[in-house]
Amino acid sequence: MANLEVNFCGVKFPNPLVLASGILGVTGGSFARTIAKGAGGITTKSIWKNPHPGHHNPTMFGNEHYFMNAVGLSDAGIQKALEELGEYIPKRKAPLIVNIVGGKKSDFADIAEALNDLPGKPDLLEVNISCPNVEDEFGKPFACSIIDAAEVTRLVKSKTKIPITVKLSPNVENISSIAKSVEDAGADAITAINTVGPGMRWNIDLRTPILANKVGGLSGPAIFPISVKCVYDIYKAVKIPIIATGGVCSGRDALEIMMAGGTLVGVGTAIYYDGDDFWNKATSEMSEWLKKEKIKNISEIIGLFHKK
Ligand SMILES: Cc1cc2nc3c(=O)[nH]c(=O)nc-3n(C[C@H](O)[C@H](O)[C@H](O)COP(=O)(O)O)c2cc1C
Repeated sequence: MANLEVNFCGVKFPNPLVLASGILGVTGGSFARTIAKGAGGITTKSIWKNPHPGHHNPTMFGNEHYFMNAVGLSDAGIQKALEELGEYIPKRKAPLIVNIVGGKKSDFADIAEALNDLPGKPDLLEVNISCPNVEDEFGKPFACSIIDAAEVTRLVKSKTKIPITVKLSPNVENISSIAKSVEDAGADAITAINTVGPGMRWNIDLRTPILANKVGGLSGPAIFPISVKCVYDIYKAVKIPIIATGGVCSGRDALEIMMAGGTLVGVGTAIYYDGDDFWNKATSEMSEWLKKEKIKNISEIIGLFHKK
């Protein structure tokens, strides 16, 4: 049996597959069920400082190639999250990554500080800098600027001792330079990627957009080549580990994106296709491949494509 355990920023994960942000909310019961079904860890949806309404329905559209969502990061705010997570954290059976988001830089700092008060802290904070930034004249995400991305990273680091992973957007000119700037600002890790686009679809009979918000971020199998390329480029640019995310739909996909540079692998949209069965199916496929290749520890394959 191959050993699937990986160490990420000093935290032990029983296997590299973690639930990506936004797929389940902040409810402990659904997290526990996902771990029991074989996930190696959980990421919460993005938590805001104050309640955040998100967008109107319909917010999701999917087919066998991709999902397009405009959920708009709806959330009840940090106070509600503290209640839910405060109950779950002491009982958790695998690591918990708490994803935080803000329209202002100071919001990130405030949420990170509030999470310090939780009994038994989260294992990692994931800092989602990929949403529109109200401090910017054009509402560009912090993830689009090396200066803003670094400033948010520095602020969060100054408020917490929990390791932080900064979640990057693929919708930038050069994701490696953003990765390097957050590493220099003190990030412990990088999560790549968030959704691609945005994209847009219409109903030709009704002449109406499919999503009420008209546009939505793309996820799922169609974006996998983009996430592999982003992870490959980031691995070359930085020394900190990566949560490789985007379009992973099988154990073989997970192995591929680990060889491109991922230490952990985030899985989101695949759960809409396969449900909870995904986790055991994918880890079995990974184990069997490693056994066939006579590789004892999965951590040996991280970044393997760079050693050619
Ligand atoms: C319905 C939905 C909601 C999402 N919500 C969040 C969120 O709250 N915060 C975040 O950082 N990413 C969010 N994401 C992005 C995912 O975490 C992930 O980065 C992206 O979907 C690519 O991975 P996938 O193809 O495996 O889904 C969401 C994705 C989907 C499909």
